[in-house]
Amino acid sequence: MLLQTRGCAPTRLLSPFARLFRPYLLQVWGRRSCNVAAIMPEAAGFQGVSDFSELQEFSVSDSESFWAAAARHRLSWTRPFHAVQDCDLRRGKIKWFDGGKLNVSVNCLDRHVHVCPERVALIWEKDEPGSEVKVTYRQLLETTCRLGNLLRRRGVRRGDVVTIYMPPCPMAVASMLACARIGAAHNVVFAGFSAEALADRIRDAQSSTVVTANQGVRGGKVTELKKTVDAAVRSCPSVQQVLVAMRTDNPVAMTAKDVAVEEEMLSEDVACEPVAMESEDVLFLLYTSGSTGPPKGLVHTQAGYLLYAALTHRYVFGYHDGDVFGCVADIGWITGHSYAVYGPLANGGTTVLFESTPLYPDPGRYWETVQRLKINQFYGAPTAIRLLLKYGDHWVRKYDRSTLKTLGSVGEPINTEAWEWYHRVVGDGRCAVVDTWWQTETGGICISPRPSDPDAEIVPGMAMRPFFGIEPVIMDPEGKVLTSKETSGALCIAQPWPGMARSIHRDHQRFVETYCQPYPGYFHTGDGARRSKEGYYKITGRLDDVINVSGHRIGTAEIEDVVNQCGAVAESAIVGYSHDIKGEGVYAFVVLKKGVEVDEADLSRQLKDMVSKKIAKYACPDFIQLVQVLPKTRSGKIMRRVLRKVAEQEFNGLGDLSTLDDPAAVQKIIQGRRDSGAK
Ligand code: WTA
Repeated sequence: MLLQTRGCAPTRLLSPFARLFRPYLLQVWGRRSCNVAAIMPEAAGFQGVSDFSELQEFSVSDSESFWAAAARHRLSWTRPFHAVQDCDLRRGKIKWFDGGKLNVSVNCLDRHVHVCPERVALIWEKDEPGSEVKVTYRQLLETTCRLGNLLRRRGVRRGDVVTIYMPPCPMAVASMLACARIGAAHNVVFAGFSAEALADRIRDAQSSTVVTANQGVRGGKVTELKKTVDAAVRSCPSVQQVLVAMRTDNPVAMTAKDVAVEEEMLSEDVACEPVAMESEDVLFLLYTSGSTGPPKGLVHTQAGYLLYAALTHRYVFGYHDGDVFGCVADIGWITGHSYAVYGPLANGGTTVLFESTPLYPDPGRYWETVQRLKINQFYGAPTAIRLLLKYGDHWVRKYDRSTLKTLGSVGEPINTEAWEWYHRVVGDGRCAVVDTWWQTETGGICISPRPSDPDAEIVPGMAMRPFFGIEPVIMDPEGKVLTSKETSGALCIAQPWPGMARSIHRDHQRFVETYCQPYPGYFHTGDGARRSKEGYYKITGRLDDVINVSGHRIGTAEIEDVVNQCGAVAESAIVGYSHDIKGEGVYAFVVLKKGVEVDEADLSRQLKDMVSKKIAKYACPDFIQLVQVLPKTRSGKIMRRVLRKVAEQEFNGLGDLSTLDDPAAVQKIIQGRRDSGAK
């Protein structure tokens, strides 16, 4: 097992002579040499807390004191809160910092503008390498205010939902913050989603305003964002206006609903009165896939979310003032929300908005960006790491990465090979690698190796330790908490924390059923986890019918819905299978309608086309296998467990097939899989 250590803050200040004797000094001072209060000022008042593990225990056993101190210290309030929390997980009631009022955009902008107006807030790493744009806090506040005024003038009111369909760019961030400033909620939709997927989200959110760009540019290719919005809006009667920003110089056809953002903004004032929002007012909706039903609009609220994003950003990554934080996730996902936008900006940090891809113009893009922008913390996805390691070390070594201090990973389990390459090659063996586990639902990182004693070990490929205020538990299928250290089962969280989602937009009952009822009194994550004898957590993957393709969630039911709309298809079953780059790929078992004959290649093209039109490219099946029937239980439920094994070519461990309606059918499916030979 590879162990990794890093000097803690006080010892980094030691003279070279003293550093020689560091192991000895550590013995003498013990772990206590890391003064927690020096690193986390709000911990100074906590009695009997002198190291990170004691602080973690305190944050769970006296979570109200912990979160009250953090909220007072980290956020600027226009009215103080009178209750720290009022939660009942059994009923899905989650309230933090009741009575408090604040404005998120003020917390992310104004308070930093007062202290350091010329500090860079955003570095927009545009698709074209070397053409980065820096935006200071003062500039970002100005743009946000102009946009806020524009939205207000055009009728957007407190409580409205504004849909934002844009790639990572300053205008997108300013749009998010402008919504926050005037009390509207935003609903960012990943700009890779199709017109139909966008329309579904606009309709569910009941947005009357959409913000987009004329075109997108990614990996050297231009995408027609405005045209996609036009197509979406046709089936969205709620939409009254579309604000169009110009990413490229190419004009687009404008309709009566369209507003040229840059032009109209010019006449707006650079000051915009922020609305004092209640802690529990909605900050944003973000749609994500579940195992059943259409994507759900998870609801995040103001104070708790912002506090949790800020605190995790600072402590999981060891972010210090002046650092450049490089989260390469798209703002269309929760990672982009919490760690490209809200966490860093709440901390007055400098954050990178990455518009490109890991391979454009070549596989050195990430590391050339690290060198040019002097990035200190780099946060990316295992799928990209796996892809890049195949291109060889020279693409990394070419560039100076000496600014890097922490390397983060998110979105899916990181396999040991990728972890070690990330640590050894990208981080030159000297950076902390943090595997961070969390979800759209959790708002921010819940399990990761840091914060902890900076000299504590980091085990490759493990998220390891709960963040402050997080109490993970592992459950058996009957809902019993497994108390032995070394165990595995369903991962739940035993008490509420400020960053967690509060509801599903317009369907609180679904929220309660999905997250609160499976294990009453606990937050149900849907993931499986193993706990080691040391008490460290390793996330093993989803326990439900959600697949994770390149770190993007997609419900099998959503893809089946589309495949089943094909005229030739009677029914289908979608499962995930392990893919060495994407983590998981999509495998489709398809039953044709009686008497229908198709050319398999044609069908495959047609289905892929349908899925990419109705959902997004990443959800397309890699393999389509025609089968006579699907394996079903006698009550008619598809045996996905069996199909997953078949897709993985694990033909021996199929388990008990006696409950199947037609056991012989499985043999035929296996034969079909063997014949296809695909892996
Ligand atoms: C998976 C992304 C293993 C997990 C922030 C979770 C992970 C889902 C990890 C959430 C990790 C995320 N190790 N699995 N470090 N991080 N996952 O909502 O299955 O897009 O439930 O949020 O990704 O995906 P989401």
